Amino acid sequence: MAKLPPRLALRAGDSHSPTPVEWLARMGLWIKRDDLSSELYGGNKVRKLEFLLKAARSAGRSRLVTVGAAGSHQVVATAIFGAREGFTVDAVLVPQPSAPHALLNLRVSLAHGLRPHPCPAWSLAPAYLAPHLIGDAYFIPLGGSNVTGSLGFVLAARELAAQVRAGKLPEPQVVVVAMGSGGTAAGLAVGFEEAGLRTRVLGVAVSPPTSVLRHLSRRLAQKTATAIGLSVAAALRAAQRIDVEGGWMGRGYGHASDEGTQAAADAAREGVTLDVTYTAKAFACALACARREAPGAVLYWHTLSTAPLGPLLLNANASDEIPAPLARLFR
Ligand SMILES: Cc1ncc(COP(=O)(O)O)c(C=O)c1O
Repeated sequence: MAKLPPRLALRAGDSHSPTPVEWLARMGLWIKRDDLSSELYGGNKVRKLEFLLKAARSAGRSRLVTVGAAGSHQVVATAIFGAREGFTVDAVLVPQPSAPHALLNLRVSLAHGLRPHPCPAWSLAPAYLAPHLIGDAYFIPLGGSNVTGSLGFVLAARELAAQVRAGKLPEPQVVVVAMGSGGTAAGLAVGFEEAGLRTRVLGVAVSPPTSVLRHLSRRLAQKTATAIGLSVAAALRAAQRIDVEGGWMGRGYGHASDEGTQAAADAAREGVTLDVTYTAKAFACALACARREAPGAVLYWHTLSTAPLGPLLLNANASDEIPAPLARLFR
């Protein structure tokens, strides 16, 4: 195995490391419970932040600067773990459809001292970011998806490979995962290539255009594979493991889809909580794949934190009110 750069052990002390794999018999698919990746705030972001925050600290930076939708999981995770590790966190926030979950994310971010910079449109985000990317800033891109962030999922793929070797589950033919910025899928594809699994990665796009996302996630996989020292051929094979499904996003980012709503209700009966924006759509796709494939061939990788947000509000002396310029971001 390649030696990865150092990381902060943000999940240290958690009871779920490695995160469990479970067989959902009624649905005929496996689930990787990364919702339990941290007792403080789980899901996929904490795995990326372990490497990103360590890189920021090693570079001597004290301020994290990121960008995302107003209720983004990436922003809330950066606010929570950034504050815990002593960083100041700035975020350029862009509009998204209003949903209680998204509003709660923003309240938790603010409760952890996030310095928000509302921006009226995605196309203006680079201009809004520029003044903050000076001095002691460490930039964390959209979704935490660069080579450094993706290393978290190279490690996660090794974790799954060890669970396969230990007989906890059969080698999946395909891992289905929600895709926003592509770093989760990219890291998994690289880790599966490195571990010698045949497992493919199917990203379920939550916003268009699908072809761009396919290109970006494959390119990130290639760059990540090269960064950890895989051969050119292996890096190409890692990239080719990724495919992207564009048929599950409904009306687009942050809007509920009919299939997602149904999938969320089905998942709730199995004790699995899904969100409207990412995981309901990915789970709907995973269910459809499981119906097509041989029993046990599909693993759904759960990327949403289900750690309760309430304590994160109360502990941090939070206000119920979202200031008007931020409230206007929810449309
Ligand atoms: C719950 C959830 N699942 C999946 C994703 C997508 O991960 P990625 O941006 O690495 O494609 C995100 C990204 O924000 C997310 O919040």
